[in-house]
Amino acid sequence: MYSQTVKDHFANPRNVGELENPDRIGTAKNQADGDRVQLHLSVRDRVIVDIRMKVMGCVAAIAATSCYSELIKGQTVENALAISKETLVQALGGLPENKIRCSLTCIDALKNAFPE
Ligand code: FES
Repeated sequence: MYSQTVKDHFANPRNVGELENPDRIGTAKNQADGDRVQLHLSVRDRVIVDIRMKVMGCVAAIAATSCYSELIKGQTVENALAISKETLVQALGGLPENKIRCSLTCIDALKNAFPE
């Protein structure tokens, strides 16, 4: 059901936890089931230099947020915000159709960290 990449991110999630002094915090809730994502970000000159994440959600949500944290680390804020659901799902080696919405919560959390 899940790709090897999804299984790996679920078993060994990257960038878990919190930063001591984050420059930004973004949170989002999956409206369908109430699951949550929190992102802590360090930002220098509009570049995301460090990130930590916490997820209360399913396998797909944990794997997607872990993968997303790797995709956005080192990116400019603008480039990170431009990463689409399709790009994230592709980086995960695909997700079951009914789990794609679980990958959106981390994307929403980043948007909420940069409301301007
Ligand atoms: S995040 Fe709730 S089912 Fe995936």
